[in-house]
Amino acid sequence: MDTIYPKVGVPFGCYLTWFGFIMRRILVTSALPYANGQIHLGHLVETIQTDIWVRFQKLQGHECRYFCADDTHGTPVMIRARQEGITPEALVERMHAEHLHDFTGFYIAFDNYYTTNSPENRLLSEEVYLNNRQAGNIRVSTVRQAYCERDQMFLPDRFIRGTCPTCGAEDQYGDACEICSGSHAPLDLKHPRCALCGDAPVERDSEHFFFRLTAFEPFLKAWTRSGALQPEMANKLDEWFKAGLQDWDISRDGPYFGFEIPDAPGKYFYVWLDAPIGYMASCWEWCKRHGRDFDAIWRRDDLMEVYHFIGKDILYFHTLFWPATLHGAGFRTPTAVYVHGFLTVNGQKMSKSRGTFITARHYLEHLDPEYLRYYYAAKLTARVDDLDLNLDDFILRVNSDLVGKVINIASRCAGFIQKRFAGRLTDTCPDDGGLHDQLVAAGVEIAQLYEAREFSKAMRAIMNLADLANRYVETKAPWNLAKDPERQQELHDTCTVALNLFRILMIYLQPVLPVTAEKSREFLQLPPWSWEARHIPFAPGHAIHPFTHMMARVDPKKVETLIQAVTPPASSAPAAPVVKKKAAPAETPLPVPAPPLEEATLEIETFAQMDLRVAKILTASPVEGADKLLQLTLDLGELGTKTVFAGIRAAYQPDTLPGRMTVMIANLKPRKMRFGLSEGMVLAAGPGGDQLFLLSPDSGASPGMRIR
Ligand code: MSP
Ligand code: ZN
Repeated sequence: MDTIYPKVGVPFGCYLTWFGFIMRRILVTSALPYANGQIHLGHLVETIQTDIWVRFQKLQGHECRYFCADDTHGTPVMIRARQEGITPEALVERMHAEHLHDFTGFYIAFDNYYTTNSPENRLLSEEVYLNNRQAGNIRVSTVRQAYCERDQMFLPDRFIRGTCPTCGAEDQYGDACEICSGSHAPLDLKHPRCALCGDAPVERDSEHFFFRLTAFEPFLKAWTRSGALQPEMANKLDEWFKAGLQDWDISRDGPYFGFEIPDAPGKYFYVWLDAPIGYMASCWEWCKRHGRDFDAIWRRDDLMEVYHFIGKDILYFHTLFWPATLHGAGFRTPTAVYVHGFLTVNGQKMSKSRGTFITARHYLEHLDPEYLRYYYAAKLTARVDDLDLNLDDFILRVNSDLVGKVINIASRCAGFIQKRFAGRLTDTCPDDGGLHDQLVAAGVEIAQLYEAREFSKAMRAIMNLADLANRYVETKAPWNLAKDPERQQELHDTCTVALNLFRILMIYLQPVLPVTAEKSREFLQLPPWSWEARHIPFAPGHAIHPFTHMMARVDPKKVETLIQAVTPPASSAPAAPVVKKKAAPAETPLPVPAPPLEEATLEIETFAQMDLRVAKILTASPVEGADKLLQLTLDLGELGTKTVFAGIRAAYQPDTLPGRMTVMIANLKPRKMRFGLSEGMVLAAGPGGDQLFLLSPDSGASPGMRIR
């Protein structure tokens, strides 16, 4: 029985490992992306980290299931759906398809990607709530909150804008100031306004349900010390314990897109109550389709290990509220929560205006997803540090490691096997000076590094092995051997050894590069492999396929094109050379003088540069010292509010304007005027003076809508 190279005492050691193998059952999640935003490279730090870990566990032979979903509930989704004139259900359905498509594009292999707006999630949320109520963990309190009478709703912090009580900066959110970074209560804002309609909110009382987090302090302290957290996160929790826990408000008043609370009509679960339960709902729906016992997984704590991968911004929810609500409801708690840091691009926070806010979709239009998977892997550690995507480094690293070191081994040897040896490897095991054994042995440490989420160290270890393999190939120089008819056996041996080393490296890289690993496996004509399969070299005379292209170098031009694609046109550039005449005098930004027709022909691209938007007039007031002007504050929906000085004083009484809709050019270069900054123009028709007529959209249009 000589089917395996005699030199390597493989089968024996291998079976020992297999007999001693204990299969783990592991359940893994990534945080559920909000349904009202696009997937970007920041989200992908998390899903790529999780996916690599999951694929590694599967390659080890463990049962590992990866669950995720869209986080669909809350006010922002409700408002956005309203603005788009569709139902929230239709909106979340569309976003779900987009998100799943993006993740699939990066080879994220979920066992289930579900939604929190599901029957399973409703039932589970109700159960978690009712069990906790039964156990005395829910109390009711009256809360005073900002309420908009026009919109007939309580306003979440992010839907109130006003002057910061600390530093006086205008137009800040209800919870925090972007200028002084201070946090405040929405009712403390000066001159608060509803972000939807601009009205001043009133204060109103409402009954809210609170989860008694305070009662769980001893439990949470014990859980924190059970090894469920990275040391720096456990320290963070200690700070929170010292500062004192507070009960958690888990209800919101309607209108709210979410689940109504049992026995409390008009009250809904706060999105953060049902969001993590979405992990369980995703698992449950999968269990139903696969005949698995959901209760055994979530009500016992000895069937599966449960791990949540999250970003540092949502630590509080996952390490205090989540384990406590689960425990209070009689469900198991997570084995561990693994926290990662935030992505920066070229050393800075991702930013739309700097062209570093890169969506998954944009990336995929230009670059290979495996580049990013490898680059992230090369930088990820088990700590909570932020991770920088430096685009120059990205190009260098991917090209030199993956293409230059790994793929190169195969591409330099495969051709000789095809041309000289009919596609077959040697019949006996060539002497490789111990390289095979060395690479196989390194698999133990590399596996430990993957397990510990020290991907960066794992990648370095693999690249060191690739260096060894390359040094071997360079020393043997098959391209020289090929020229010497006397040395064909040596050529055959060299290429066989090199491809065997390549095989081991690709097994190690499979969690990171699933597609290239799969192509390699097919090229080598091997059956699906596992981590242990690294021990098993090729059979004597094993036939391989001709080498096919596996991975291209990163083309710096494509990186450049990607950056171009996500960089908005510079706002300081003239918005559009619509008006070739001199600009209107500063005091009368309106009306736009109509250019003579022959000058006015305009490329469609030029027109498209003009950002015309529906605007709602929030305030209109006379301007001292300029009797033709009115100062308008305009609500542009997601673009925020803008100030415009418009020459319409003779045509309109200021107090007739607030509340009405009009149209504005939103990306006009702001112009400094004597009275302040004018950030655009509103559109009106007519000769001027008191004969001016503001344009308005049809009813149904809402502030911020783009005119196309
Ligand atoms: N919907 C909540 C999570 C609910 S989990 C029960 C949420 N959604 S999110 O879309 O804002 O973020 C999803 C995950 O992506 C979070 O873990 C978050 O930390 C992570 N990231 C979002 N932006 C990120 C970066 N720029 N960098 C790294 N991770 C980031 O939070
Ligand atoms: Zn309002």
